[in-house]
Amino acid sequence: DSVKLIAPSILSADFSKLGEEIKSVEKGGADIIHLDIMDGRYVPNITIGIPVVESLRNTTDLPFDAHLMIVEPEKYVPDFIKAGCDMISFHMDACIHSHRLVDYIKSHGVKAGVVLNPATPVNTLEEIIHFVDYVLIMSVNPGFGGQKFIPQTLEKVKKLKILMEETGRTDILIEIDGGIKESNIAEVSAAGVNIFVAGSSVFKAEDPAEAVRKLKQKAKF
Ligand code: DX5
Ligand code: ZN
Repeated sequence: DSVKLIAPSILSADFSKLGEEIKSVEKGGADIIHLDIMDGRYVPNITIGIPVVESLRNTTDLPFDAHLMIVEPEKYVPDFIKAGCDMISFHMDACIHSHRLVDYIKSHGVKAGVVLNPATPVNTLEEIIHFVDYVLIMSVNPGFGGQKFIPQTLEKVKKLKILMEETGRTDILIEIDGGIKESNIAEVSAAGVNIFVAGSSVFKAEDPAEAVRKLKQKAKF
């Protein structure tokens, strides 16, 4: 019944050939390309910005999912929309007017999501849940690829499912990000997750296309 989508994160790809890397996961059946945007302020790392996203837009028709790990995301959201992002999520503690930003994103025909860090409780979504298209639950601390999945995240997914029921928003998609691999994706999927971000388990694999195929198969259990 439910939607199960694989979103490879290019954070762990070879940055000297991002176009080819995207093509390879596309062959494996990737559904979405996850773009980790870091500013060295909200998180202790710097990645890519708008010009790179613009260039990559010409390499694939897959939807682009921008995960903004930046302070004052409202300053750059218009540019990410222009660059061709189909989904944009931001951390509410990085933004003063989250509701306004969600509204802005949606009014441009782009899906809007908010992100919960491992220490951010699900109840912070109580008001914004009425407005978002998806929620991204971090299963590692944002900033780096290749970290270990925090197992308590599964309980959090269950709490979010309850809040979705209570608010009549069972249509919201749940995305998970961090430490997703072949050995844990089935369990995470069973908890109710819809979109699986996978960085190192895809791009550090010998055959990224095959890695995506396997993840997809296991997510559908
Ligand atoms: C971490 C990023 C993730 C990261 C996931 O801050 O948001 O998207 O690329 O990498 P893995 O799958 O290696 O944990
Ligand atoms: Zn991410």
